Amino acid sequence: MYTTSSVVAATALLGAGAAYAAYSIDTVADIKKTAATVAWDLMQYYHGNETGQTPGILPGPPPAGDYYWWEAGAMWGTLIDYWKYTGDDSYNAVITQAMVHQAGPNRDYMPPNVTLSLGNDDQGFWGMSAMLAAELRFPDPPPDQPQWLALAQAVFNTQASPERHDETCNGGLRWQIPWSNAGYDYKNTIANGCFFNLGARLARYTRNKTYAEWAEKTWDWVEGVGYITKDYQVYDGAHVDYNCTDLNRAQFSYNNAIFLLGAAFMYNYTDGSPKWRDRVDGLVDGAIRDFFPDGVAFEVPCETNMTCTTDMLSFKGYLHRWLAAATTVAPFIAPKVLPVLRSSAEAAISTCTGEADGRTCGFQWAKRQYDGSKGAGQQMNVLGAVSALMVEHNPDYVFVTADSGGTSKGDPNAGMNSKQYNPGELPPVTARDRAGAGVVTAVLVVSVVGTFLWMSMGR
Ligand SMILES: *[C@@H]1O[C@H](CO)[C@@H](O)[C@H](O)[C@H]1NC(C)=O
Ligand SMILES: *[C@@H]1O[C@H](CO)[C@@H](O)[C@H](O)[C@H]1NC(C)=O
Ligand SMILES: *[C@@H]1O[C@H](CO)[C@@H](O)[C@H](O)[C@H]1NC(C)=O
Ligand SMILES: *[C@@H]1O[C@H](CO)[C@@H](O)[C@H](O)[C@H]1NC(C)=O
Ligand SMILES: *[C@@H]1O[C@H](CO)[C@@H](O)[C@H](O)[C@H]1NC(C)=O
Repeated sequence: MYTTSSVVAATALLGAGAAYAAYSIDTVADIKKTAATVAWDLMQYYHGNETGQTPGILPGPPPAGDYYWWEAGAMWGTLIDYWKYTGDDSYNAVITQAMVHQAGPNRDYMPPNVTLSLGNDDQGFWGMSAMLAAELRFPDPPPDQPQWLALAQAVFNTQASPERHDETCNGGLRWQIPWSNAGYDYKNTIANGCFFNLGARLARYTRNKTYAEWAEKTWDWVEGVGYITKDYQVYDGAHVDYNCTDLNRAQFSYNNAIFLLGAAFMYNYTDGSPKWRDRVDGLVDGAIRDFFPDGVAFEVPCETNMTCTTDMLSFKGYLHRWLAAATTVAPFIAPKVLPVLRSSAEAAISTCTGEADGRTCGFQWAKRQYDGSKGAGQQMNVLGAVSALMVEHNPDYVFVTADSGGTSKGDPNAGMNSKQYNPGELPPVTARDRAGAGVVTAVLVVSVVGTFLWMSMGR
């Protein structure tokens, strides 16, 4: 019945400024419905499955489009999580086509098209998505195609190979892979974080202790050079010319989260050892302290002045997804983590009111309204945050191992015959000087704008 009084009441409500909201996460059905729409909107950025396009990548790299190669690798991981969390398999065929195509001719996520900007972190993000596919039992590709576990092992093996390890700074991986790339002189947390994370997960999945030894060694190195402090601040990296003492103290959320998830896997692999329990605990407290002021995800080095690069505009999604995943293998952290993931996701969806469709998501979640910042990263962040809420509701979201239901076929020697980018000797002196000079110039320019911009240079 349509009465005057109800019209008056409704008008009063709107007049009082009841905020418009496109999305809700109040019930499990709401979470799934919201995630489905945000996923659809994310996929509007992807054209790789259209005629004449390259399967697997987002438009780019700049200047051809906004996105570097790695970000699509991260996107497929986000969508594998989405599938497992919600059961919606609409994108599975696209995901498989993408991840198989970009594996490259040696099945190691070093396709020749991208080597001029190939970092260990870029390769690592694709490797972690392949690992996730194996762990969540994402459908295996046909037998003549690359297999998820073998792809993760190939990435790990290429990163463990002697050509990627040298004595500068007492060890650790460099950011870039070919010595001619700008950034080859930077040893950073994210490159080592990818290697650590993959090692920990391969150790738990295969129970081959070589992976665990590398994970231990990588943690010790990162702590040794002071990239992870006693208080669990996680810094970005430093340069080999300074023996890694010129610390870039920018704290990006994904650096914490990638180590947190790897540490949670080591905790699980070691049947709950006190050492790894302490590290997991420390990183969780550090994450909540540094990246969730008032319970809402905040990208510390760049959000205040909105100087985030396209890369950085996607980090919140990994923070949410990896914290959620960590609660499955280290359940003792769930009481601390889940309430924060919830409050942050609530803020996240409150920004999804933008543009003509009235549901485009923004970046500055704490503002609780659309901020005009749109893109694949912003959609992916919200998709990650919303779908990860299912971790409490979906008992099938389980990371299996080879002994507990895993079906993906591995190959311990995968990647062993991959192309070596820096065989034998050091690069010719002239080329080194040139690369070094370029980097010094870049550092000078960048330090004016803010050191955090550094990490996305040279991609
Ligand atoms: C590409 O994949 C999307 C799903 O993301 C689908 O809607 C679309 O029809 C596909 N396009 C082609 C040309 O297959
Ligand atoms: C490399 O680039 C070519 C030309 O754009 C494209 O056809 C091919 O599919 C790309 N390979 C990969 C693995 O992306
Ligand atoms: C364990 O992993 C290492 C490193 O990849 C490999 O060389 C070795 O063959 C593996 N062992 C087994 C039993 O698979
Ligand atoms: C370089 O740093 C490492 C610790 O990160 C230290 O063990 C080593 O002695 C340092 N080397 C020099 C030459 O200062
Ligand atoms: C390891 O992970 C499994 C879930 O895969 C969980 O049931 C188990 O409790 C975890 N182990 C520890 C020590 O927390």
